[in-house]
Amino acid sequence: MSRTMVAGNWKMNTTPTEGKALAEGVIAAAGTPSTKVVFGVPAIQLMQVKAVTAANPGYFVAAQNMHHEDKGAYTGELSASMLADAGIDYVILGHSERREYFNEDDSLINTKVLKALAAGIKPIYCCGEKLNVREAGNHEMVVSKQIEEALFSLSRDQIKEVVIAYEPVWAIGTGVTASPQQAQDMHAHIRRMIDNQFGSEIAANVTILYGGSVKPANAEEIFGMPDVDGGLVGGASLSVENFVPIIKAR
Ligand code: G3P
Repeated sequence: MSRTMVAGNWKMNTTPTEGKALAEGVIAAAGTPSTKVVFGVPAIQLMQVKAVTAANPGYFVAAQNMHHEDKGAYTGELSASMLADAGIDYVILGHSERREYFNEDDSLINTKVLKALAAGIKPIYCCGEKLNVREAGNHEMVVSKQIEEALFSLSRDQIKEVVIAYEPVWAIGTGVTASPQQAQDMHAHIRRMIDNQFGSEIAANVTILYGGSVKPANAEEIFGMPDVDGGLVGGASLSVENFVPIIKAR
């Protein structure tokens, strides 16, 4: 089973009209991809982009967030069952912007991961350290804690459905990319953690993406590292011109 994936996180960008054109443009230019390609789109576009990807093997849709309760008086929120009924394949959980601006912690993210899995949606779980943590040399410790709290309560069957994205916060939207070796070192560390907790077969198959200023100019080198299975791409996923070469680099 292939571990590779290139996922775009459009964040709060693109109108529905622009989003439809972007997904269609990427598919037209990239053709049948040799890796899984995921569009992480704003909520209002989920069903529309799903309709575009449904006819194109290899392409999938992700929500960018989801509420942790099943239903109820949570104005403005979407539940796992709503996403599942709409045919949404993945949900991005624990992105550093959700942690920073919406106070999400790994205990809450763990609840969301379990809800998504119960509804049949695959979580793309994001982790990563801030700059001061990296500078103090505590990045492995911080990422270990995030992963333990968010993922170690899962069963072996559940963890098989999870994609992990390592996104060092200092590299997101800054133009500064982790070096291929920095990415490899953390990815290898994460894979070792999965091995220790869930066993070597699961560790060998878990998809671990790198995110943080991935662009056409650096994608091939980063994706060339043995434990980097692909990317979670922000800014460069917003144009056909930039995203397609990144897909092809994988
Ligand atoms: O989730 C993707 C992300 O946070 C990276 O964003 O713009 O640095 O590629 P960017």
